[in-house]
Amino acid sequence: MFFNNQSILLLLYTFCIFLFGCFIRYLEYSDFFLCYNCQEVDSPETLFDYIVVGCGSAGSIVARRLAENKKIRVLLLEAGNHGNSLLDIPSFGLLLQQTPFDWQYTSVPQKRSCLSLHNNASIWPMGKMVGGTGMLNNMIYVRGHPEDFNNWFKEKEGYSFKEYVLPYFKKVEKWTHESDYGSVYISNLSFSTKLSSYVLKAAKELNFDITQHTENCEEGFGLPKINSINGQRWTPANMLLKKGTPNIILRTKRIVEKILFHNNFEAYGVKYSYLGDTYIARASKGVILSAGKYFATF
Ligand SMILES: *[C@@H]1O[C@H](CO)[C@@H](O)[C@H](O)[C@H]1NC(C)=O
Ligand SMILES: *[C@@H]1O[C@H](CO)[C@@H](O)[C@H](O)[C@H]1NC(C)=O
Repeated sequence: MFFNNQSILLLLYTFCIFLFGCFIRYLEYSDFFLCYNCQEVDSPETLFDYIVVGCGSAGSIVARRLAENKKIRVLLLEAGNHGNSLLDIPSFGLLLQQTPFDWQYTSVPQKRSCLSLHNNASIWPMGKMVGGTGMLNNMIYVRGHPEDFNNWFKEKEGYSFKEYVLPYFKKVEKWTHESDYGSVYISNLSFSTKLSSYVLKAAKELNFDITQHTENCEEGFGLPKINSINGQRWTPANMLLKKGTPNIILRTKRIVEKILFHNNFEAYGVKYSYLGDTYIARASKGVILSAGKYFATF
């Protein structure tokens, strides 16, 4: 048999993809092998101070903030897996889309868009693991457009993005070693191609603004800020896992099915399933729904 260089490369490439596939399959069940959930069996009626549903970017930040008070016990329920620090390699994020680490949603077939895509539908990645969609995306950090927030305050005199939203963004941000508290590391791109400098040059020639602060949603062209530190993907969940917070009880593979309400519409707990059994957890102070952009809004 005769192999040329190209077919050897192709074989190697196929083998790597195969290995990655095996690794993903292993991770899917690793929470059981590694016994992340073994220490504390869910008792049928447990009381916590707060229950946070979903351990994505928002859930991690909220849980950590609540747990600053060491007397407060927070239960953090995640439908997906713990993952693995190998998945902090930035380019792995895209490979995780359409695997068990993604809820694998697609839009309905579109009539006027997505016409080049399979079934005229676009895929809507949403993370199903500790770290949430922050584990699947391209790590670009933007705060959101000020006018979107100002629209919320349209009928509230004296309220504005600048006064009531921006300070909270700043509070969670951690500009590499500048601030101590934030959960969200932000850095400049550690690598960019020649092409990006040509695009910026062209934009400048065409009189577009060049911005250094893309995080502000400023109009113009610029290199994005990313959620990364030392070239490693960063989500707020990393902070949770690394700085062990004993009063946050993180449980994975728990699918929350229902929020339980008193007659006065006050939430007092959640019903969730784990390995086919149903459990109830109660919260004396509140239930926070941070289950992603699709679940939490419906
Ligand atoms: C996708 O859209 C095109 C153009 O509107 C249409 O001809 C085709 O039948 C659509 N395919 C599906 C699977 O809906
Ligand atoms: C990013 O780059 C800009 C411009 O080169 C610099 O002023 C800024 O300090 C850098 N920020 C971080 C977080 O490294």
